[in-house]
Amino acid sequence: MTMRANASTDPMPQDLVSEIKRLKREKNAVLLAHYYQEEEIQDIADFIGDSLELARKAQAAKAPLILFAGVHFMAEGAKILNPEAKVLVPDLRAGCSLSDSCPPEAFRKFRALHPDHFVVSYINCSAAIKAQSDVIVTSSNAVKIVNQIPRDRPIIFAPDRNLGRYVANETGRTDMLLWQGTCMVHETFSEKKIAQLKHAHPEALLIAHPECEPTLLEKADFIGSTSALLKFSAENPARTFIVATEEGILYQMKKLSPDKEFIPAPPNANCACNECPFMKLNTLEKIYLTLRDETNEVTLPDDLRLRALKPLELMLEWSK
Ligand code: 13P
Ligand code: SF4
Repeated sequence: MTMRANASTDPMPQDLVSEIKRLKREKNAVLLAHYYQEEEIQDIADFIGDSLELARKAQAAKAPLILFAGVHFMAEGAKILNPEAKVLVPDLRAGCSLSDSCPPEAFRKFRALHPDHFVVSYINCSAAIKAQSDVIVTSSNAVKIVNQIPRDRPIIFAPDRNLGRYVANETGRTDMLLWQGTCMVHETFSEKKIAQLKHAHPEALLIAHPECEPTLLEKADFIGSTSALLKFSAENPARTFIVATEEGILYQMKKLSPDKEFIPAPPNANCACNECPFMKLNTLEKIYLTLRDETNEVTLPDDLRLRALKPLELMLEWSK
């Protein structure tokens, strides 16, 4: 990974959106954005999606330059799948608490204790963890992929214990050994406040991302990836939804269903903890500077890239 500061002291242009569009055209760049990005970033993206859709888009992109408005592991995944492209991120500090909860050396030791296990890693992990895995999953394909692993093969699932437990329940693979990682955003929701909301809106459906705690998932009317939650909210006839995931997704939900009500599930504390602090590091200003100066490039050594590519390719194959 290389890092160069956006050092220029040139003033910011008045119309950032037009300037970003001009630079994208000039440089033949594609801007990919995750649903947790700020609204104005979602508005100028060439494509918005969940992790699986973004990985597919990145792999298929013909553009020489990919600007990934998301977090680091997503951009790293884009580089692994599309090494010809120059992959940039608006802020190299945009990490992920879940990815950080699985340090490569500790994971190596854990794997060594269970050499017969098939290693399934959630895409929210570093290239060094992907390189130690047999297959990668996202929240949208994890059940489908785990169902394809021979039933006599024990499984390690990393790094998210909540998604892991959800997948174990859905697939009946209770033999799964779970790495004990969690996402700081999805473990923050207050079940007490959600119960109060349900009381005030008895008709509302609770929809949740599988990274949420098991006791919350037990009460959910629907569980899915960001894209799956969006689709469900648009297609289901219910008028009110309590949404237990990062609040950025509400923007597209309201756009697709302007006459429905979307209530963000409240966090335990009186804070904005249902906003991912890493995703929210990205701003229009940083996107403009990164595109203009081609800074914040995501790179990785070839041998690591190739080892991480194998389980990612298997994921794409098994989720067809
Ligand atoms: P999705 O793949 O469902 O978009 O999830 C990404 C993520 O980081 C959830 O916290
Ligand atoms: Fe990581 Fe959680 Fe942020 Fe998703 S919401 S990028 S899992 S810290």
